[in-house]
Amino acid sequence: MSSEPTKVLLVEDNWGEAHLLYKSLEEAIPGQFQISHVLRLSDALEYLWKETCHVVLLDLGLPDSHGIDTLVLTRAQAPSVPIVVLTGSQDEALADQALKEGAQDYLVKGQVDSNILARSMRYAIARKTAEEALVRQGVAFAKVCQLEHSRQRLIAVHELVRRDIAVQLDDVREKFLRLKNHLQEILEGMGSASETSRELSEVVKGLNQVIEQQVGALSRQLYPSILTQGLVPFFQSFCDQFKEAVSIEIDLDEDLLRKEKADSGLVPQQVVLALYRIAVEALTNVVKHAKASKVTVRVDPPREGWLRLAVRDDGQGFDLESASSGLGMATMRDYAEAVNGECVVQSAPGGGTEVIAVLPLSRPPGMECLDACETGEN
Ligand SMILES: Nc1ncnc2c1ncn2[C@@H]1O[C@H](COP(=O)(O)OP(=O)(O)O)[C@@H](O)[C@H]1O
Ligand SMILES: [Mg+2]
Repeated sequence: MSSEPTKVLLVEDNWGEAHLLYKSLEEAIPGQFQISHVLRLSDALEYLWKETCHVVLLDLGLPDSHGIDTLVLTRAQAPSVPIVVLTGSQDEALADQALKEGAQDYLVKGQVDSNILARSMRYAIARKTAEEALVRQGVAFAKVCQLEHSRQRLIAVHELVRRDIAVQLDDVREKFLRLKNHLQEILEGMGSASETSRELSEVVKGLNQVIEQQVGALSRQLYPSILTQGLVPFFQSFCDQFKEAVSIEIDLDEDLLRKEKADSGLVPQQVVLALYRIAVEALTNVVKHAKASKVTVRVDPPREGWLRLAVRDDGQGFDLESASSGLGMATMRDYAEAVNGECVVQSAPGGGTEVIAVLPLSRPPGMECLDACETGEN
């Protein structure tokens, strides 16, 4: 405990009572309390405006204020200072009201010895400190919730923009396709012998490449419409996407697939999206960093209502402590946490790497705007 004296503001209009309190405290516990005494509420309010104290001993009947108003005004002036109310023996009801209005304790004048008074002030300070800590925790918790919602909104908006661009790219692709088909028809009418038709054939080939390999791939990368078609085609598309770079084994839990077949809404769209973004980043990292010969992608339900994705490679692994923390790792965590799940990475030099995401099969409220686009994609 600190050896500094406890600063007390005594607000008492009766000189005799004030003196008695002051003297008995000083005699019983010398040096522990430093008391400043005022006679009127206006003086108390001025004191609290200019000075600090640890506790207020407050008589409610003062020359310039009576009853519960005295407490309310004092609290308003110094909301974080604990108050012990001093009442007369006939004022029990007023004392109860004072506790409801935020006084930490009350004492009946004439029934107080110095030890009870000292203990009451110490408890009042301790109670107020605990109350304040709870309020601070509550505020901190509310801020964390706000931040969590704002992260969910940011991810949802980011995904909506991606989808929007993907839809526009699909439109561009359609138009290119029509142009290409038109050219093809002209070509067919020309016969194949001429130099111009050979040149046009090359143009058609080039167009095909741009349409499928660039525009199509870009659109799929922004938002793969396969996401709305269930887990099997979803993971099959992974194999196709990464099979050139690394050998992938996909292991999907049979029971989970059965349940998904029976209920196409089993895995909410936001969760599918998180699963996809995490898996893509994990596999991109394998290709970029792991020097692996094989990757296993496993999906199973670790318990009812949850889904687990594990991407494990047999590559060179890395030291989690000293690895540069890039955007990829943070993005995987963000996507998992945005749907109220978790993502962890386990790795050791020489021991391969495993990314594990555990996601709940429920819609995160902060990302509902993605629901609207759940259907209608092709
Ligand atoms: N599967 C993996 N095998 C080996 N190293 C990895 C693997 N995944 C991630 N790392 C290491 O972790 C680092 C951070 O990854 P990441 O956050 O995705 O950023 P980036 O891929 O842009 O470097 C990588 O630079 C790499 O050193
Ligand atoms: Mg990466």
